[in-house]
Amino acid sequence: MKTVISTGKGGVGKTTTISSIATMMAREGRKVVVFDTDPSMNLAMTLGIPFMEVPTIADERDEIGRELEEDGISEIGRKVIEEHSKVSADGIRVVVMGAIEHGGGGCLCAPINLVKMLLNYLGSDRCEEKYDIAFVDSQAGPEILGRGLAREFDCNAVLTEPTPKSAEVSRQVVKMAKDLDVKSNLLIINKSESEEDIERMSSAVGLRPEEAVRIRYDRSVIRADRNGETLIDAYPESDAVKDLAAAKKKIEQLIGMRNVRIHRISGRAR
Ligand SMILES: Nc1ncnc2c1ncn2[C@@H]1O[C@H](COP(=O)(O)OP(=O)(O)OP(=O)(O)O)[C@@H](O)[C@H]1O
Ligand SMILES: [Mg+2]
Repeated sequence: MKTVISTGKGGVGKTTTISSIATMMAREGRKVVVFDTDPSMNLAMTLGIPFMEVPTIADERDEIGRELEEDGISEIGRKVIEEHSKVSADGIRVVVMGAIEHGGGGCLCAPINLVKMLLNYLGSDRCEEKYDIAFVDSQAGPEILGRGLAREFDCNAVLTEPTPKSAEVSRQVVKMAKDLDVKSNLLIINKSESEEDIERMSSAVGLRPEEAVRIRYDRSVIRADRNGETLIDAYPESDAVKDLAAAKKKIEQLIGMRNVRIHRISGRAR
């Protein structure tokens, strides 16, 4: 199972990008699981799963933690995936880490550790369902990498806007990803209005221009968001969707994902 994390400053387009690429892959027949580790939990909604329908890992972390001690990861992994995730209309399995509900209610370390264990389980022979790829949509900033979640992931998809502030967060994120032996970085320059952003931003972040792609600034993205629509369905011919398809291809090359041969029929939401 390949593993990809989206990182970057707040509001740069992590959720839009990851959800669009995950949807494109699922529609090609890949088996996809996504983890929403952002406490504000936008990913499930973006994939068409109503907010309240997803029981989060954080909601039941005490119970899960207890059972984990008793039964081990294989048993609880299967159960958590069955009971604490949803499958979108495109067949994407969505696992939501969840938020800490109360002020002073603790940090997110424990749920992040559970996500780490679940990812190991899903990629192991003990898991009956074989996933081609897992995406982790992270909260803003380098925090999530500081907790070691993405250790030895196949790709860090660093989202950035073409601004110095955004570049600074991306630079930190790339450094941390290297510390965690993440195998590749792809700088995705979002809301870009100039070809020159590739040279300028990759150099500011400390990556090569070949490790960067750009997604054009496109009002279709904002319109789709405002109307609660899926971008790739509402505006399939838009600049942003074309650029997202190119970014997906680049990720596939970087992580060594082979072409899809079998076209699976995607599942219905349940
Ligand atoms: N290519 C684009 N062109 C124009 N607007 C965009 C583009 N990509 C994303 N946006 C807009 O930017 C905003 C933030 O996008 P998104 O929620 O995907 O960012 P995020 O990095 O996940 O944010 P957060 O840090 O809050 O999780 C949204 O309003 C979205 O519509
Ligand atoms: Mg987000």
